[in-house]
Amino acid sequence: MRIVANIIIASLVAIGLNACNQQPENNKEKESEAITYEKDKQASDQSMKSTTEDVPDSEYSFGTLPYQFDDLEPYIDHKTMRLHYGKHHKGYYKKFLNAIENSDAQGRSIIEILKNVSQYSNGLRNNGGGYYNHWLFWHSLTPESGQKPGELLSTAIDDAFGSFDAFKETFNSAAASQFGSGWAWLILSDEGNLVVTSTPNQDNPVMDVSKINGMPILALDVWEHAYYLKYNNKRTSYIENFWKLVDWGKVDQRYKKAINQQEIFTP
Ligand SMILES: [Fe+2]
Repeated sequence: MRIVANIIIASLVAIGLNACNQQPENNKEKESEAITYEKDKQASDQSMKSTTEDVPDSEYSFGTLPYQFDDLEPYIDHKTMRLHYGKHHKGYYKKFLNAIENSDAQGRSIIEILKNVSQYSNGLRNNGGGYYNHWLFWHSLTPESGQKPGELLSTAIDDAFGSFDAFKETFNSAAASQFGSGWAWLILSDEGNLVVTSTPNQDNPVMDVSKINGMPILALDVWEHAYYLKYNNKRTSYIENFWKLVDWGKVDQRYKKAINQQEIFTP
């Protein structure tokens, strides 16, 4: 009996010692994870800086992202953000500057150019749209997940669509059914109504070529370059996760500006 008791005590002591030995290992692991995270974060910051290093000086500012590339994880991944902002958006911006150089649009505000886009080249239409649309998209998103619209906009949404859920359903349907590349929008129409619409390519509702005109206050990019790396062909999953990232504070501000007929573009 005493032998059995001794075995049990010895086993308990061994387990205790083992746990003590593992504790520093766990701490080391946590420390190493923290260092790795910090390194990744610094690399992300650095990567953001290097992305904008070759942006030309211009009266039309490229603007910076209001968050880092990995801040929208897990819904929008670092790699997609880096390519989308650093290659696609910057590409539109640079081509917009080239297109505007020898046109009489030089010196006009981007909103003014878009409103009269039918007077200009296709290059100006596509790249001016790409420049403006992406700015609005970045400023429709926030890492502070789970926001809701403010009272003024919330009431306007209920009046226009019946409920927030009905609005979301209408928006989702516009985003999912946009054939090929394009955008989904919530706009304050020229008639003063909140309207959900979509546009192909880099068109937007500010453009005089759009089927519905108004001031966009919320934008969703449904080009494949916006989601394919993470979501492959599952556009609807990307759209569903978009709602977790909407910056309703900024959308509220744009709604108030749109009501007061103030131009909305401050990169
Ligand atoms: Fe895009």
